[in-house]
Amino acid sequence: MKVIIEHCEPVLSTWLLLEYKYASKLIGKRNLIFSNVKNLAKGKLQRIGTTFSESITKLPFKKAELIVLDPKARKPLKASDLKSNPILVVGGILGEAIPLGRTHEFITKKIRNVKARNLGKAQFSIDGAILVAKLIEGGKKLSEIKARLNPEIKIRKNHSIQLGYAVPVIGKKLKITPGLIKYLKKDIVKDELKLIGGENPWQ
Ligand SMILES: C[S@@+](CC[C@H](N)C(=O)[O-])C[C@H]1O[C@@H](n2cnc3c(N)ncnc32)[C@H](O)[C@@H]1O
Repeated sequence: MKVIIEHCEPVLSTWLLLEYKYASKLIGKRNLIFSNVKNLAKGKLQRIGTTFSESITKLPFKKAELIVLDPKARKPLKASDLKSNPILVVGGILGEAIPLGRTHEFITKKIRNVKARNLGKAQFSIDGAILVAKLIEGGKKLSEIKARLNPEIKIRKNHSIQLGYAVPVIGKKLKITPGLIKYLKKDIVKDELKLIGGENPWQ
């Protein structure tokens, strides 16, 4: 299976890069293409896949070869969809608490009559969606795949973060993006401080 990730976010954040790196590990560097990659992100993404600056909506792939993974698609992805070795198109889009339909807006709508498939009602991360697709390719039905919706991750004593999406479970293990918990424990706290700023109310 080959995967094209259409990079749709304006910034290649640490979180997004962690998801892309796990996607590359899951599918293999040779099978991963990033489209819509502008100069700044190119260097980092060339280490984990092939890059194109053009959008998938403009690249000359045969439409019949593509399947867009889109939460708004009417039909669920099935193993039979993957038999002809299609190219899966996944949105390089970080999840929103309430999904905004950006996959449909940025990708599906722009490739007329392209085949689109969903992975059920729950929103997965980019790498999580690719993992679910791989399990389906391996013969599992969507209904047989386990996942945990909005899992809560303990960051430190009295501090936990809820991930606002579904995470696949294999065996008894949550398949969270490698490096994400470490990032949440350390760097995100610094980033939040930078973003939030604010004054000390007791001074
Ligand atoms: C974090 S999701 C972003 C979805 C975005 N919030 C939306 O409403 O379209 C990242 C990508 O994973 C894939 N994906 C995640 N969950 C999916 C689902 N339930 N069905 C189909 N594709 C899904 C899609 O390709 C999507 O663009």
